[in-house]
Amino acid sequence: MTRISLTVDGASVSDDVEPRLLLVQYLRERLGKTGTVIGCDTSNCGACTVHLDGTSVKSCNVLAVQADGAEVTTIEGLARTVGGDDGLHPVQEAFRECHGLQCGFCTPGMIMQSVDLLKNNPKPTEEEIRLGLEGNLCRCTGYHNIVKAVQHASGQAEVTA
Ligand code: FES
Ligand code: FES
Repeated sequence: MTRISLTVDGASVSDDVEPRLLLVQYLRERLGKTGTVIGCDTSNCGACTVHLDGTSVKSCNVLAVQADGAEVTTIEGLARTVGGDDGLHPVQEAFRECHGLQCGFCTPGMIMQSVDLLKNNPKPTEEEIRLGLEGNLCRCTGYHNIVKAVQHASGQAEVTA
């Protein structure tokens, strides 16, 4: 066992973990952060995307011990990063307004990846959005409304859906 200490969604946590434990398992099974989902656990689908020190990572591709000392934000803590504990982050709001989801399984990862994309490129083109989200798979929407949601969140598209 290895002792790790980190911040998750604004709360400090310390735990003894197996060195092989994946960050996504730690978040879901130890901390109950089931908003972060597992779609493949082979780093293909992006459903498990969280922010590690402000940068998106696929949490099935990171060991919990690698997050020692880091700040992790999951979809459950995203709103508090903009001071909206009771509300939604603007990107969450944009996905809702543009119907950027159907079953919702990919949505936590899509939103976390979109937030990172917009942080690095606040006014992305459609092509840049599609490239930025290429590691996140959606089986339902055909991606059109997801792209629209990111454009809307960046102030580049009206809601038409
Ligand atoms: S569950 Fe992590 S990429 Fe699919
Ligand atoms: S909304 Fe169903 S997988 Fe994306």
